[in-house]
This record gives sequence, structure tokens and C-alpha cells, in this order.
Amino acid sequence: MRAALRTALLLPTLAAAGLVDVVERALTGVVDCATCHSSLPTFKALAALGDERFVQTITQACIDLKIEDADVCEGAIRTQGPILAHDLRHFSLFGDTATKFCDAVFGMCDLPPVTPWLVPFPKPIPDVQRVWKSRGREPVKAMHFSDVHIDREYTLNSEAKCTKPICCRDFGERPKHVQSPALPLGMRTCDAPGLLADSMLEAAERLGAGARFSIFTGDVIDHAVWDVDEENVPRNMLEFTDQFAQKLSAPLFPALGNHESAPTNSFPRDTTEHDITADFVFNAQMQGWGQWIGENATAQIQHHSGSYAVMAPGMDLRVISVNTQYWYKQNFWLYDSDEHQPDPNGILSFLVEQLEAAEDAGQRAWIVAHMPPGRGDVVRDQSAYFDQVVQRYKHTIAGQFYGHTHADEFAIGYANYSARTAENAVSVAMIGPAMTPMSGNPAFKMYDIDPDTYELMDVRSYYTNISDPNYQLNPTWQLLYSARRDYAPLVPALPPNASLSPAFWHNLTEVFYKNDTAFQTYIAHKHRGREFVRRPCEGACKNGTLCEMRTLRADVCAQQSGPVFRIPDGHGHSSFAPELGSCEGSGIGGILRRMAAKAAEQDFVFDDSSALPEHADQTVMRL
Ligand SMILES: *[C@@H]1O[C@H](CO)[C@@H](O)[C@H](O)[C@H]1NC(C)=O
Ligand SMILES: *[C@@H]1O[C@H](CO)[C@@H](O)[C@H](O)[C@H]1NC(C)=O
Ligand SMILES: *[C@@H]1O[C@H](CO)[C@@H](O)[C@H](O)[C@H]1NC(C)=O
Ligand SMILES: *[C@@H]1O[C@H](CO)[C@@H](O)[C@H](O)[C@H]1NC(C)=O
Ligand SMILES: *[C@@H]1O[C@H](CO)[C@@H](O)[C@H](O)[C@H]1NC(C)=O
Ligand SMILES: *[C@@H]1O[C@H](CO)[C@@H](O)[C@H](O)[C@H]1NC(C)=O
Ligand SMILES: *[C@@H]1O[C@H](CO)[C@@H](O)[C@H](O)[C@H]1NC(C)=O
Repeated sequence: MRAALRTALLLPTLAAAGLVDVVERALTGVVDCATCHSSLPTFKALAALGDERFVQTITQACIDLKIEDADVCEGAIRTQGPILAHDLRHFSLFGDTATKFCDAVFGMCDLPPVTPWLVPFPKPIPDVQRVWKSRGREPVKAMHFSDVHIDREYTLNSEAKCTKPICCRDFGERPKHVQSPALPLGMRTCDAPGLLADSMLEAAERLGAGARFSIFTGDVIDHAVWDVDEENVPRNMLEFTDQFAQKLSAPLFPALGNHESAPTNSFPRDTTEHDITADFVFNAQMQGWGQWIGENATAQIQHHSGSYAVMAPGMDLRVISVNTQYWYKQNFWLYDSDEHQPDPNGILSFLVEQLEAAEDAGQRAWIVAHMPPGRGDVVRDQSAYFDQVVQRYKHTIAGQFYGHTHADEFAIGYANYSARTAENAVSVAMIGPAMTPMSGNPAFKMYDIDPDTYELMDVRSYYTNISDPNYQLNPTWQLLYSARRDYAPLVPALPPNASLSPAFWHNLTEVFYKNDTAFQTYIAHKHRGREFVRRPCEGACKNGTLCEMRTLRADVCAQQSGPVFRIPDGHGHSSFAPELGSCEGSGIGGILRRMAAKAAEQDFVFDDSSALPEHADQTVMRL
């Protein structure tokens, strides 16, 4: 069936060829927000012809313009294209949704301001807050894994230098001469082989001996987004669950990543009318995670679209795992109506309900999720509403944990974003490094937790060096840094028994402003090894990075860091379209962006000041 489809695509009828022409012209004509808007009628007309014509036409344009190999174009657009076609049939030309669509797909619009909405809270913030006091007891350990992106089709000795978004697979046309054969424990141009996960989990079991529990902040599935389906995604999710259960003795509390669906990023809202659902994902979660989270939480997954809450064993700590995909700009289902939906699938209200239950019961809470809520790829509305939740429950929330960026980072939330000071720092998010070697050395984090306050006493990062000559035979996992050992001495007056509080992390950002050596060390840690950093992070890169450390809200920083394209706006200055190429490079969003970019290709200047991992063009793009 797929072969037949491909033949049909390669032999388009004359009429279809004419259509492809029109659509290619419309796509390459998108150079800014206004031209995106003026191209929408063409895209809408195409969508009105039906999914099949839409998919065929865009696929042909993708192949003509040589955006990706034909099979990548075909697979990505066949699976994700119908979602865009569905959107185009449902939003009107002149509403906010059209602008948000242009932003999400082409990254070219100034976003409308946050739509005011007050998150309903069951009770006001109590007058008297419970004070969480440490008794100075021995800390307990927990581990944090993220973005493993295991490629179950990883093939030993296959080509690691290929033309596709990920390599090290047998793509059916094995070349006679393999330039760079895929080695057993992974390559920088490929997602992780299963063996690498074994190695990491065995090391974690040893290094984290006695850990009470682990968290996993999502993205099990590889980046072959053109080749995912409702059969291989759940199978690969369950395979990772089994691997985990085999290697680690403590329970795992996972969260769902944007790659845990087919099509990738596809989480339809409960208001969406379409055959595609994500139920097969929730079923795989329930089947795989039930062994750790128990019956009640398993039932919550079903009723709360992949979110659940569970008590950490032997602690007054409620771990709330949230499916953030309904706030993710690249979940294209979010653009299928003009109506403002403040809380798609009730994820925020579930979070509020759980935090209230924790507050009422005198517990503390950790929020565990895939996507950090304060970055440019988060829908601004939901990011701002999430911030209201943090402000309301800041005394209860003892920690927040995310992944998705593949980098080892932190981000601070403030009571007042106009005055980002140590006194105003109310919450801190730990962002866990990825295991996939595409974006840095494979790594994971370990926490020392105060057993009375559930605050962090230390944060350590462990990595294995894939450039080490012994790596493929005998990978060693070692400490990259300890925040207590390496960062705390830089911050004045942190008593040894004080937790690494939001104020501590804020003070550390103050140090980074003043002490560039310390900042560049942090950047090396962030990318899990200095050799992944192309050049020092200075100027706009440093500003942007520091700004991102100081926000859990998406509307605070002008997006300055990461891959930045300057798009001449015709008025003598340039506007930033930072997201261009920053997400889902091999998914339909990235494909359409690159089609649009074709027209203005000569005008693009890749901003030199950004510190990017070495393979940024291939890696940063694929979150
Ligand atoms: C599960 O839910 C039931 C009913 O709400 C409750 O009585 C029980 O304590 C819960 N069990 C756990 C392990 O939380
Ligand atoms: C937030 O900080 C700004 C700048 O210092 C100040 O003017 C404003 O009053 C503060 N807002 C609140 C609610 O405290
Ligand atoms: C740290 O120890 C000192 C001296 O024992 C004590 O007064 C203080 O309350 C402790 N601080 C914390 C955060 O536990
Ligand atoms: C942060 O810095 C401020 C001002 O220098 C200081 O008063 C405060 O004690 C510091 N807090 C921590 C946790 O380091
Ligand atoms: C700057 O940070 C480095 C650690 O990265 C430290 O060795 C050095 O002493 C710091 N310099 C100052 C002036 O604090
Ligand atoms: C990894 O190994 C390479 C080659 O031995 C070395 O140059 C590099 O500094 C190492 N990186 C880290 C973070 O250990
Ligand atoms: C960085 O920020 C500072 C102040 O916040 C500003 O003066 C400076 O121009 C910025 N630098 C760049 C390169 O953006």
C-alpha cells in the first residue's frame, strides 16, 4: 500500500503537477507573518480538496525542493499532513488561531498577547503557611533520566553518515562501501542503540545505590518521525519499560514525551472531531507503568490524558506527572478551532486538584513533565496559566523536573517577573540531560533530597564520554559536576545544611553575569562536554541563556538563544525568527519551514554568536 502510494506520488498527473507548482510558489513565498497570512487561502483551498490531495501535493513539493529524502518527505507528510489539513479546514483566516498557526508552522509571527484567564482555584492561598523544616537527616537519593530516544532499528555496521535525519539504520538500500560503520554503543549522528540504555541503567543502579525512586521526563521513541506508527510506538515504549524494570530496583515515575505518539506530537484535544486519537498511547502507558504507579494512578492516566499523581514511597511527597503535550506549539491539533480553550483536556485543572490535595494533606509536591513550561515552543497562554498555578502553590511545590531540550539546565520561577531577584525566586526547575548521543554525551542526573522538606541538597550529573577511545568497548560513567561541590562555593553564604533553593540558583545566575569562567563551565555542562560547544557563548547567546535560566514563563525572554536566523524584513532592520529550525526538523513543521526558507535562502545569516552543539543543524532541530 505504501509502495503504491509512492509510485502514485512520483507519477503525478498533469493537473496535480500544476497544483504542486501553485503550492510550491505559495510555500516559498512565505517570508514573514504577512506573507504567511496571504498564503493561507491557497493552503486552505488545497486542504478543501481533501487529505489525500493535500498530502500528495505537499509531499511532491518536499521532494521537488529536495527538503528531505523522498521516503522521509513521504512518511512525515503522510502521517502529519492530515492534521494540518484538518486545521486549515477549521480556523478562519483572520482570527488569532491563524496567527498562531503561522507561528507554529513557519515561526514568523509576533504572537498575540496572552489571553487573560484566571485559573480556578478551590481555595485561596492560606494565611498561615506550613513551614517545612529540615531536621538535618541524611538525604535520600532519586535519579532523573530523560530523552533516551532509543532506536530499536539501530543496525550495527550500517552507515552512520547518511542523508536522513537519523542514520545507523538499514534503510533497505545498503551501500557497498560503508563510510562510517555504526558502532555498538552509538554514534553522534544517530539515536541510541538499546545497548546504551542497558549501560546507563546498570551504571545508574550502581552509582545511585539505594535510590528511593527514579523519574523519567519523556521521549523514549527515536527521531525517525517519518516512520512511526500506532504499532511501533507502543511496542517501543513497552520495551523501554521492560528494560527499566530489569535493570533498576527502585520504582520509576515517568512522564510522557511528545515523541510518544504517532504521528509524532499528535495529541488531539477532547474537542477535536477526528478518527485519530492518542488512546493507544495512554493504553501503552497504563500497561507499562502500572507496575510502579499502582491502580489509582493508572486509572488517572486514562481520565487525564496521560497525567497521574503518586506518593513517593515512604514520603510525604506527591509526584505529579503531567502530559504537557497539550501546551506544545508543535502539537498541531491545537489550531483546529478559533475558540480560545484555556485548559485543553483539563491538564491544568488536574494539576490544581492534585496540588490542592497535597496542600490539604500537608504534603509537598514535585511536578514531573516533559516540556519545560517557559520556552519559546510552549503556547504562551498555557505557560502563563501554569505560572498562576506555581504562584498559588509555591509553598507546596518543592521541585519541578523536565526534559525535552536535551540539555542539562535549570530554570527559575519568580513571584514578580519585573523584579527577578533572589527574594522573588519562588520555584526552580531541573531540566535533565538526554541519553541520545546526538546532542551531547549520554547523561543523567541524580538528586540528594532532604527527607523532611523534599528540597534538593545536591544535584549531580553523570555522563559517559562517547569520544573516549575506549567508549565502544568499555564505557565508563562518571561524575560531570556536583552543584554543591562546584557551584555552591561560588555563591556566598550558603550554609552546608541549606538546600539548593530557588534563591541559591538565582544567586548563581548573578555569579554567571560576573564570572565568565563559571558561566562557560556551566555551558559545557549544559551540553554534556565542552567538545560539543562550537564556540564560547557570548553576547546575545549569553543574554538569552541567562534570561532562559530566569524564567518559567514563555513570554518573558525575547527568544535569543539557540539557532537564530535573521530574516530581512524589507525595512532595513531584521526580525528574529528563532524557532525556525529549532523544532522537529524532520517532522512536517520543520519541512514546511525549510520549504519557506528555500526562497530566501541567500538572505539567511546563521547567527554566529550562538553556542551550539557541534551538530546543531542536525540536532537542535529535533526535540
Ligand atoms: C485509591 O483510591 C481509593 C478510592 O479513592 C482510596 O480509598 C485508596 O486509598 C487509593 N489507594 C491508593 C494506593 O492511593
Ligand atoms: C514588581 O516589581 C516592579 C519593579 O520593581 C514593581 O514596580 C512592582 O510593584 C512589583 N509588583 C508587585 C506586585 O509587587
Ligand atoms: C543549619 O544548622 C544550623 C545550626 O545547627 C541551624 O540553626 C539551622 O536551622 C540549620 N538550617 C537548616 C536549613 O536546616
Ligand atoms: C542570595 O544572595 C543574597 C544577596 O546577596 C543573599 O542575601 C542571600 O542570602 C543569598 N541566598 C542564597 C540562598 O544564597
Ligand atoms: C570564577 O569561577 C571559577 C570557577 O568556574 C572560579 O575558579 C573562580 O575563582 C571564580 N572567580 C572569581 C573572581 O570568583
Ligand atoms: C572526552 O574524551 C575526549 C577524547 O579523549 C576528550 O578530548 C574530552 O575532553 C573528553 N570530554 C569529557 C567531557 O570528558
Ligand atoms: C545583553 O544584555 C545587556 C543588558 O541586559 C545589554 O546591555 C546588552 O546590549 C545585551 N547584549 C547583547 C549582545 O544582546
